[in-house]
Amino acid sequence: MAAPDCSRRNFLQSTAASGAVAGLLATTAARAGGANQRLRIGVIGAGNRGFNTLTKTLSRLRQAGRQLDLVSVADVYAVHRQRWVDYVQQQTGVKASSHLDYHDLLQEKNLDAVVIATPDHWHAKITLDALAAGKDVYCEKPMTHTIEEGRQVVSAWKNSGRVMQVGVQLTSLPVWDMAREMINQGKLGKVVQFQTESARNSKFGMSRHNVITKEMTPQTVDFRRFLGVDEGFHPEVPFDRSLFGQWRCYWAFGYGMYSDLFVHRVTGMLKATGLRMPGRVVGGGGIFLEYDDRQVADVASIIADFYEGVQGLVSSAMVSEELKLEHVIRGHHGLLRFDKNCSGNSGKGTFEFLPERPQVTRDSDSKAETFEAATQLNIVATHMSNWLDAIESGRPEMVNNDPALGAAAVMLVNLAVRSYREGKVFQVDRQGEIQNGDGSWAARWEQMSQTQAKPQHVPGWAAAEVGSVLYPPEYQKLAGPWKDGRPPEAG
Ligand SMILES: NC(=O)c1ccc[n+]([C@@H]2O[C@H](COP(=O)([O-])OP(=O)(O)OC[C@H]3O[C@@H](n4cnc5c(N)ncnc54)[C@H](O)[C@@H]3O)[C@@H](O)[C@H]2O)c1
Repeated sequence: MAAPDCSRRNFLQSTAASGAVAGLLATTAARAGGANQRLRIGVIGAGNRGFNTLTKTLSRLRQAGRQLDLVSVADVYAVHRQRWVDYVQQQTGVKASSHLDYHDLLQEKNLDAVVIATPDHWHAKITLDALAAGKDVYCEKPMTHTIEEGRQVVSAWKNSGRVMQVGVQLTSLPVWDMAREMINQGKLGKVVQFQTESARNSKFGMSRHNVITKEMTPQTVDFRRFLGVDEGFHPEVPFDRSLFGQWRCYWAFGYGMYSDLFVHRVTGMLKATGLRMPGRVVGGGGIFLEYDDRQVADVASIIADFYEGVQGLVSSAMVSEELKLEHVIRGHHGLLRFDKNCSGNSGKGTFEFLPERPQVTRDSDSKAETFEAATQLNIVATHMSNWLDAIESGRPEMVNNDPALGAAAVMLVNLAVRSYREGKVFQVDRQGEIQNGDGSWAARWEQMSQTQAKPQHVPGWAAAEVGSVLYPPEYQKLAGPWKDGRPPEAG
């Protein structure tokens, strides 16, 4: 497929441009016209997610008729490489190639696209190399380990013209776009807050459910490469199964619940509201229970304030999870409450609109409503299909979790991690520069209040005035400074 790669893409692009319908229909139309149109995919990082979920999902999609082949794997762990090759041979009959070093996989000329499911600290480097090699990319969340890497990936992706999907699968549930549309129309009035959580309780301690085995040895694992010693990700240290298999517990590789769990929820909320860059972020928490050599917090909260006059609140404890914080977007005229399935894997979810009282809204027609969304396949299959559809129709903008959204989620949670670890509050200026927080944030809002400015809004909010207006009581005319001994109502 290598040489025909360009022609395949051109063909697909022209098919898309000629007005073929998006999604599966576009895929079918594109394929009908040419031989050997199968997409050839490699997997980098064939561990729990890369193998058990993503590879098996692709294999099932293939069985269901998707024109794809799994042709190559790269992993630093020999056991995972072999497992992948054996599975692919057994399921699809393809004798796949296998590499310890992912660079060798990227050099394969016949490869069209890669799935990246390594630990987080490798995501950006591998993504940048894959885009440079001309591959389309599905990269697991969090898109990158640092904010700066997030910017680099967005820039490289834009310049590459390639299709890139970030692996927050809940973005493929239609509820977020439906919610966005309602917010755009002003159904909630001025949106001022979202709240969400991601709690997990475990007798093992968070992320110790990741199994470590005797097969993990310095002979089967290229530990130096896992650490990323040559890339400056981590200094050389003695082999340790916990670092390798339970990397989520250590800052160098992941950020515990911040990067593992919060990123999912935050991405959904950013997608629904249209918010992207926070203006001020603080993170709190600590290790309050799980004293098992971990570095990452087991209780954590984020408060993120946005220039658009919205606050994001994320709060979880890795302990009691019976009564969780609800997933809510609040406006002056009502709220949206998302059920827990909206963050699950079933591909089904409902959310409710709950109106404020007519005393506030001056609208007695506004009623509670419930909205349902369902995808045909489970949510991971839907998310991967969305990526495949975008590749096959040559439309990078079609993906449900593009790198710009991926980078925004990374920025929000990473600033909270930095805040927690460095004991600082961070502000982000309009150009995206990160600064230490100061009094200017509060002063800005106070200034707006004093000058009776208009509320700020989420980007793209079409009905900017709906639900933003206050109706002061008559007695409010009595407020204000007295002039020359005369009350304000005297004029
Ligand atoms: N979207 C989701 O719901 C979801 C769920 C689980 C995990 N994930 C993400 O998937 C990624 C992997 O998580 P996991 O649970 O599968 O971890 P894991 O430890 O089970 O698997 C990681 C794999 O990557 C390999 N690896 C490490 N460094 C590598 C390198 N430099 N080159 C090639 N291979 C390398 C390891 O050997 C291992 O096989 C993480 O980023 C995680 O956040 C996403």
